[in-house]
Amino acid sequence: MADAGESGERLQKVLARAGLGGRRHCDALVAGGHVKVNGTVARPGHRVDLDHDTVEVDGVRIGVQPGLVYYLLNKPAGVVTTADDPQGRPTVVELVPTEPRVFPVGRLDYDTEGLLIVTNDGELAHRLTHPSFGIDKEYLATVEGAPGRQALRRLREGVELDDGTTAPAQVSQVAPGLLRITIHEGRNRQVRRMCEAVGFPVARLVRHRIGPLTDRKLRPGEWRPLTIDEVRTLERAVATERTPPVPKPPKRANRR
Ligand code: URA
Repeated sequence: MADAGESGERLQKVLARAGLGGRRHCDALVAGGHVKVNGTVARPGHRVDLDHDTVEVDGVRIGVQPGLVYYLLNKPAGVVTTADDPQGRPTVVELVPTEPRVFPVGRLDYDTEGLLIVTNDGELAHRLTHPSFGIDKEYLATVEGAPGRQALRRLREGVELDDGTTAPAQVSQVAPGLLRITIHEGRNRQVRRMCEAVGFPVARLVRHRIGPLTDRKLRPGEWRPLTIDEVRTLERAVATERTPPVPKPPKRANRR
């Protein structure tokens, strides 16, 4: 692993400045193998340059590198979650600053509303969307009709879709026909397909939470930068991979 050379700073000093404790504690973190530089376990005396090097302590990256931006957008309906739409429809990146170039993290359908992270941080985006880190996403779904206990139980336990059975989800009916659904997978049109599969198609879908991030004040079409604390909290949320769920045996009958 290459050092940042004489231009870099001693790793322990960088850690101490990032608030990880006194010099001795930071020495112990490095000696104990808790610290990685550019993905490799660091050794004592390592020098780093945060403009170029990524430093992680127990999987959580320290500092926010210059040039990286993180926006929280409340996506309105009628906007595509892409940087460029061949059909010329409005895109989410047109709703945030154009420089530096950014991309959406994951996907909300054209008609889905709610919170979306837009960034130029490829590493965080990868972790946020990769199923092995699968963070919770909470939706409010207005469905046609009011699901009964069996339908709710199926949604919670897993629904057979054409791309496999969904993982267990948290589902509650906050008012007749209004479901709060929390999933950690990110399959295409997953919530809509789950509700459709149990006989209650979605009429309106809004994402209210992405892992630790929520914002009740952000109006549709508005965005704001994430705070450094929010970025750190997000990184902490995706610092470790999720234990894969124990696969459930296939269901026999197609209950409703
Ligand atoms: N599930 C869906 O069905 N649509 C979305 O946009 C997000 C989750």
